[in-house]
Amino acid sequence: MSNTCLIVGCGVFGLSSAVDLAKQRVFDRIVAIDAEAVPSSMSAANDLNKIVRPEYADIKYMKLALEAMDSWRSNSPVSSAYHESGRLSINSKDPNRRQFDSVSQANLRKLLGKDALMDLKSPDEIRKKFPTFLSNAPLNEDISAVFNERAGYASASEAASAAVETEDGSVIQADTILLAIGAYMNAYVHTDRRVIAKGLPVAHMQLTEDEYNHYKNIPIVFDPDVAYIFPPDPKSKLLKFSSAGYEYVYNTRTRYNESIITSIPTTPSQYTDIPDYAKESIYRFLRMYLPELADRPLEKCKMCWISDTSDSEFLIDKLPGTDNVLIVNGDSGHAFKFLPNIGKYVTQKIRGTLSTEWREAWKWKNVDEHSREVKWRGSQTLADLKDVSFTPNK
Ligand SMILES: Cc1cc2nc3c(=O)[nH]c(=O)nc-3n(C[C@H](O)[C@H](O)[C@H](O)COP(=O)(O)OP(=O)(O)OC[C@H]3O[C@@H](n4cnc5c(N)ncnc54)[C@H](O)[C@@H]3O)c2cc1C
Ligand SMILES: *[C@@H]1O[C@H](CO)[C@@H](O)[C@H](O)[C@H]1NC(C)=O
Repeated sequence: MSNTCLIVGCGVFGLSSAVDLAKQRVFDRIVAIDAEAVPSSMSAANDLNKIVRPEYADIKYMKLALEAMDSWRSNSPVSSAYHESGRLSINSKDPNRRQFDSVSQANLRKLLGKDALMDLKSPDEIRKKFPTFLSNAPLNEDISAVFNERAGYASASEAASAAVETEDGSVIQADTILLAIGAYMNAYVHTDRRVIAKGLPVAHMQLTEDEYNHYKNIPIVFDPDVAYIFPPDPKSKLLKFSSAGYEYVYNTRTRYNESIITSIPTTPSQYTDIPDYAKESIYRFLRMYLPELADRPLEKCKMCWISDTSDSEFLIDKLPGTDNVLIVNGDSGHAFKFLPNIGKYVTQKIRGTLSTEWREAWKWKNVDEHSREVKWRGSQTLADLKDVSFTPNK
């Protein structure tokens, strides 16, 4: 009898699972569906680029990230999308973020040696390391940073598309169902706040050919207190920004139960812009690091939606009350880098061979077990998009 697996959602988790389950021949047939063609505009991975870095305070994620980075660098289907630009990480003023960074950096040095990271202890040391683009930057007197030259970014949409093979089907009967619908989970499944859909602001700036050539070799510059930036995209010549400081929800009634109110992602037509606060953060970033671009307009602004857990662990477990529905969710804003290898662990989960460590980390926890708040993204204030101000073309 044919044994079919249906994967709902072709984002990072769905695609990676599809590829590994097919490779391992776990099922006779795998059907992966999505509300849109890959890369879906609803996917958090439908983006120019995402950071691929090994720094984690939790050593098991660091090892998972280093394993993923071997695939990003090797001759895998996604490797042409990976660019090792290096990542300049500005030391945060937020104690939570600072703690995360210093433990992460110590872990990396323990695993890879002292020279895995370069400390830049003053504005002068930072300027000297990146003379072409930071020479005019009015860096704060007390700024310090850490540079990892063995980190980079992946062209996100390109990498997702490289992992797809499509098949048309009509009615799908499946023996096993993987729910990998990212931030949309609570629209269909009541997770009782085990995962929360949060929107993060993304914006772009158009560069000219000359400007592109000037900035093309910059590293990722990540200031966790303000915003971060990627090297410009070679095709579109767009600079991409994302802001820090605020994360957004959009609380609304669910269709399956009128009395359950939870955050569900907005559609791009509901908001074609990002909150004023996010734009102000990006301009603050520009004035500090790239003042020559600080009077230029932002464009192609959008909210990018993640499925967040309070402890930042993924949620990969059976849906309670079912025997054949596996939730693959809870990306917590850091799962893109695992596109090449998270599927391997989903296969292990299905086969019952996943290590106890990961099984415990990714299980459907009791609600009180989620009290361990991991604030590695720094102190983020949560606001409802309905309550914040938007000014078009600011
Ligand atoms: C601004 C921003 C920056 C980020 N930066 C990084 C980074 O630098 N590094 C990093 O590692 N990670 C980063 N991430 C996180 C990363 O993008 C996510 O962790 C990852 O995309 C989550 O994968 P997913 O498969 O769970 O969800 P998604 O990639 O969002 O995919 C979900 C899929 O489900 C589909 N879907 C939804 N509802 C339905 C339905 N009803 N029926 C069928 N299909 C449906 C959607 O169309 C979509 O394709 C970032 C995220 C954001 C928002
Ligand atoms: C809807 O949710 C409420 C609150 O969680 C719960 O008490 C009620 O039983 C649910 N109704 C149905 C029909 O499931």
